[in-house]
Amino acid sequence: MAICVAVPKEIKEGERRVAIIPDVASRLQTLGSTLVCESGCGASIGNANEAFENTTFHPTADKVFAEADIVLKVQPPTPDEVRMMKKGAICVSFMAPYSNDEAIVAMKEQGVTAFAMELIPRISRAQSIDALSSQASLAGYKAVLMAASISGKFFPMLTTAAGTIRPSRVLVVGAGVAGLQAIATARRLGAIVEAYDVRSAAKEQVESLGARFVNTGVSADGMGGYARELTDEEQKRQQEVLAERVAASDVVITTAAIPGRPSPRIITREMVEAMHACSVVVDLAAEGGGNCELTVAGEQVEHNGVTVYGPLNVPSMLAIHASEMYAKNLLNFCKLLIIDGELELDWEDQVLADSCLTHDGEIRFEPARERIEGAES
Ligand code: NAI
Repeated sequence: MAICVAVPKEIKEGERRVAIIPDVASRLQTLGSTLVCESGCGASIGNANEAFENTTFHPTADKVFAEADIVLKVQPPTPDEVRMMKKGAICVSFMAPYSNDEAIVAMKEQGVTAFAMELIPRISRAQSIDALSSQASLAGYKAVLMAASISGKFFPMLTTAAGTIRPSRVLVVGAGVAGLQAIATARRLGAIVEAYDVRSAAKEQVESLGARFVNTGVSADGMGGYARELTDEEQKRQQEVLAERVAASDVVITTAAIPGRPSPRIITREMVEAMHACSVVVDLAAEGGGNCELTVAGEQVEHNGVTVYGPLNVPSMLAIHASEMYAKNLLNFCKLLIIDGELELDWEDQVLADSCLTHDGEIRFEPARERIEGAES
C-alpha cells in the first residue's frame, strides 16, 4: 500500500504557517505517497482545498492522524495530537526538543518516530532540509523592517532641499543566519551597519556583507558550529565594548542564541538608558527569554523613550514564504524516508540519526532522555 503522508491543521494560536503547499503536495505524490489533509489546512496562506490535486481531505484531525504513516507539522505536536497518531507513525516537525517534555513522553509511549527540525545537523548535505535556517532568514529580514517602521529616523542617507539626513546606525548582535539576513536587509535600506558575534568565523561573514565587525576580544566557539555560553569575565569584557556601540546606535537587532539554553543577556538596562530617544531594540531572542534585560516576550515596551520590542513567531508574519520554504524543507526530508515508494529508516544516515527525538518507545535525543528519565537510566 502507498505510504500515507498526512497534514493536520496547525492549532497553535497565531500560527499562520502551514506544512504543505500545492507544489510540494504534487512532488510528495511522485515519491509514491498518497496525501491526506485536514480540510482548510492551507487556508491561512490562501490555499483552498481545491488547490491540492489528488488529495483526500477529512473534516477533522482525528481522521487525518488515524491514516497517517508520516505526519507533517509546523508547531510541535501536542500530547492530544500524539495520542491520535498510529503506533509506529512518523512525525516530522519542529519539536522544541529542549523543553517539550509532555509531548516527548507521549511520543515515546505512543511508539511514534519523531524527527525534530531543530536537530537537523548543520552539514552541507542537509542544507535543503535546514528549517532553522530558512525560518531564521525570514525573521532577520522582518526584524529590520519592524525596527525601521518603529524608528523615528530614515535608514538611508538623503540629500534633500531641506538639508542632508544622516543614515541610521544599526547594530546587529548575533551574526548567525538571522543576524546575517538582518545585516543584508539593513544595508539594502541604506543604514550604516555594525555587527557582533562570539564565533570567530562570523567576522569574515559580517564584513562580506559590508558591515563593520565589532571586536570585543571575546571568542566562544562551541560544539557543532554553535556558540558556547560566556564566562562571567568574558561577559564583562563583551559588555564594556558593546555599551559604547549600543549608545551610538539608532537601532539594535539582537539574535543571539545557544541551543538548549536561555538566551544570553547581552543588552542591559543601562545600555538602553544610554540610547537616545526614539531608538529601537528588536529582540529576536524573546522566545528564549531575550537578549535584552528589558524585553517582554511578545510586547513592545517603552523605556526612557526607547522602544524595546520582543516579537514572537516572526516567521509566521511572513507566512507565505515561510510556508513555501518550510514545506520544501519537509519534502527534502521525506526524500530520505521514502525510497522507491517504500518507507525506509536508514539509521546510518547522519541526518536521520541526529534529528531523531523518539523511536520505538525510546527517547533517542540524549539531552531530552537525560532530562526526562534521569542520567542513570
Ligand atoms: P543561533 O540561532 O543558534 O544563534 C544566533 C547567533 O548568536 C550565532 O551566530 C551565535 O554565535 C550568536 N551568539 C550566541 N551567544 C552570543 C553572545 N553571547 N554574543 C553574541 N553572539 C552570540 O545560530 P544559527 O543562526 O542557527 O547558526 C548556528 C551555526 O550554524 C553558525 O555557525 C552557522 O554559521 C551555522 N550554520 C551552518 C549551516 C550549514 O549548513 N553548514 C547552515 C546554517 C547555519
